[in-house]
Amino acid sequence: MLSNTAKGAVSTVQNATKTNGNRSASTAASTLTEAFNAEKNADGNYTVTLIPGDGIGPEISRSVKAIFAAANTPIEWEEVDVTPTIKDGKVSIPEEAIQSVRKSTVALKGPLATPIGKGHVSLNLTLRRTFNLYANVRPCRSIQGYKTPYDDVDTVLIRENTEGEYSGIEHEVVDGVVQSIKLITREASERVARYAFAYAESIGRDRVTAVHKANIMKLADGLFLQVCKEVSQDFPHIKFDDILLDRACLNITADPSIFADTVMVMPNLYGDILSDMGAGLIGGLGLTPSGNIGRDASIFEAVHGTAPDIAGQDKANSTALLLSGIMMLRHMRLYEQADNIEKAVFDTIAEGKTLTGDLGGKSSLTEYTSAIISRL
Ligand SMILES: NC(=O)c1ccc[n+]([C@@H]2O[C@H](COP(=O)([O-])OP(=O)(O)OC[C@H]3O[C@@H](n4cnc5c(N)ncnc54)[C@H](O)[C@@H]3O)[C@@H](O)[C@H]2O)c1
Repeated sequence: MLSNTAKGAVSTVQNATKTNGNRSASTAASTLTEAFNAEKNADGNYTVTLIPGDGIGPEISRSVKAIFAAANTPIEWEEVDVTPTIKDGKVSIPEEAIQSVRKSTVALKGPLATPIGKGHVSLNLTLRRTFNLYANVRPCRSIQGYKTPYDDVDTVLIRENTEGEYSGIEHEVVDGVVQSIKLITREASERVARYAFAYAESIGRDRVTAVHKANIMKLADGLFLQVCKEVSQDFPHIKFDDILLDRACLNITADPSIFADTVMVMPNLYGDILSDMGAGLIGGLGLTPSGNIGRDASIFEAVHGTAPDIAGQDKANSTALLLSGIMMLRHMRLYEQADNIEKAVFDTIAEGKTLTGDLGGKSSLTEYTSAIISRL
């Protein structure tokens, strides 16, 4: 039996899909959620919350803002700081930032530093929970002009974003024995599975593949897989299959083109790992975008972290945040601006003259940004 919450969330996606038709680019995020309010402000622009983030976040955000301005995107950025505050004894995001995202319903976010160890909840997790960002969409496509061992990667992966191994339920049983609980619910599994099918439809793919370890975690992954199978019956025109996580890793590194016609959907941890593997196949984290699609808002962000080793040195690559911004523009139905910026980015990389260090070039972020702007 399918829950009403999940049905509601996805019926909007399906309606939006009908409106948008099929869009083939793997950075396309033409599926919409009810979260986007589509309201322009008095100046005729959409207000979008910008969370520059930590480390290289501020410099790559400046690069994106300059390129978006040069492309005449009708966006007014509302910059907010998400440095954590303590509220009722719990770490939380400043109220001003929460209100901004709630109002704009769409945000672009730079990376946030998460101290490892006790006493600090990940801010990324807090953001996901605060805005019910239930589906993390991560496309990975080989970029022409940047040679890697693989030149035919075109994967789309959707990661369940709210529970699984990242539920944060951990405790010490006795000294030296700890437990970490993987939580899988029918409701969250169904919500993300439905989104995966609707997303596949919207980008013109006719297959959805569930990635799991139901042979080992018979109850948890077993439920996830079962729900995906049930949801597939509502999408008879889309094929459904499943694959064990280890087999998926083997296959994707042997021949990534096997997954070029499907949308992979999986529990939280598997998505985290497999998407970084995809990033590795196309040349690194500096090139990989993502969208966190939610009930109350959608937040688009690069997959990479704060890169503390190169922060503040004008060496970072802003492509991943730019491609995330392009996903966001499509989510906002600003297709013309998205296509224009995407072409300028890919042409600049294909030309190979103005590349940052992570792509084997010698150019600064400032030079890379100018090269893209000159093509708009
Ligand atoms: N979404 C997020 O906010 C997010 C994601 C991952 C890690 N983090 C945080 O970032 C911090 C550092 O994490 P890490 O070092 O494991 O991973 P990282 O992604 O920051 O860096 C890994 C390597 O990739 C390089 N790199 C990453 N992004 C790049 C870019 N745009 N251009 C050029 N090179 C780039 C870095 O220089 C580094 O060598 C940690 O505090 C971690 O918690 C945040």
